[in-house]
Amino acid sequence: MKKILIANWKMNPATVRETVALAHASDRKGVVICPPFPFLSAVGNALRHAALGAQDAFFEDRGAFTGAVSPIQLKRLGVRYIIAGHSERRRVFGETDAMVAKKVAASVRAGLIPILCVGETKEERARGQTQKVVERQLKIGLSKLINSSTHELMNLIIAYEPVWAIGTGNADKPEDTVRMVRLIRSELGTPSVKVIYGGSVNAENAELFLRQKEIDGALVGGASLRKSEFRTIIRIAERL
Ligand code: PGA
Repeated sequence: MKKILIANWKMNPATVRETVALAHASDRKGVVICPPFPFLSAVGNALRHAALGAQDAFFEDRGAFTGAVSPIQLKRLGVRYIIAGHSERRRVFGETDAMVAKKVAASVRAGLIPILCVGETKEERARGQTQKVVERQLKIGLSKLINSSTHELMNLIIAYEPVWAIGTGNADKPEDTVRMVRLIRSELGTPSVKVIYGGSVNAENAELFLRQKEIDGALVGGASLRKSEFRTIIRIAERL
């Protein structure tokens, strides 16, 4: 599969049993499964082909940080990818660009691949600030990488996720996404960096995004929890 599909299960499912069943159903090469922390081991043991990802990680390696989980600990569990700066983390948990930057850097330090999420809110879009917001999130989000070398940039994934499209059923227009993806690549100056789209991707619209050569894959939330729908999305990605 040339495209990458990130399954972000958020705070679902409720039980280990459901989690493992969902992991088996989604276990294909090119898929990255990001379950809640308590289920990482169970999912890691269930997977044969898909990779394991975490939905977040703290930026310190160890120490007195109640409730936090470090990238190093995750790496030891078999995690390979870390979602950093998801809009729900920014909005609900108050994560700033500066914190996201530390998380991206800590993930790279631990040998993990960060998936840096960027995207404008509805209000920012209405004010014509989309480009400015995304440029700021990228600039600050990547600012703590040791030397921002091409090698480091090549090893990360940027997820363009307009906030208004997440969980709303109101996906971006693929042609608008392509424009943003081009902008992100030119901003980074690294044509080979992977850029994916997220926000209400489902079985109906997945192909519209995935068939664009500029878009390297999708970050799927709600639809990744529905076994047969996610399998349809995987089949679409495998066909392309
Ligand atoms: P959604 O979530 O597919 O449910 O919109 C996407 C995401 O987690 O960013």
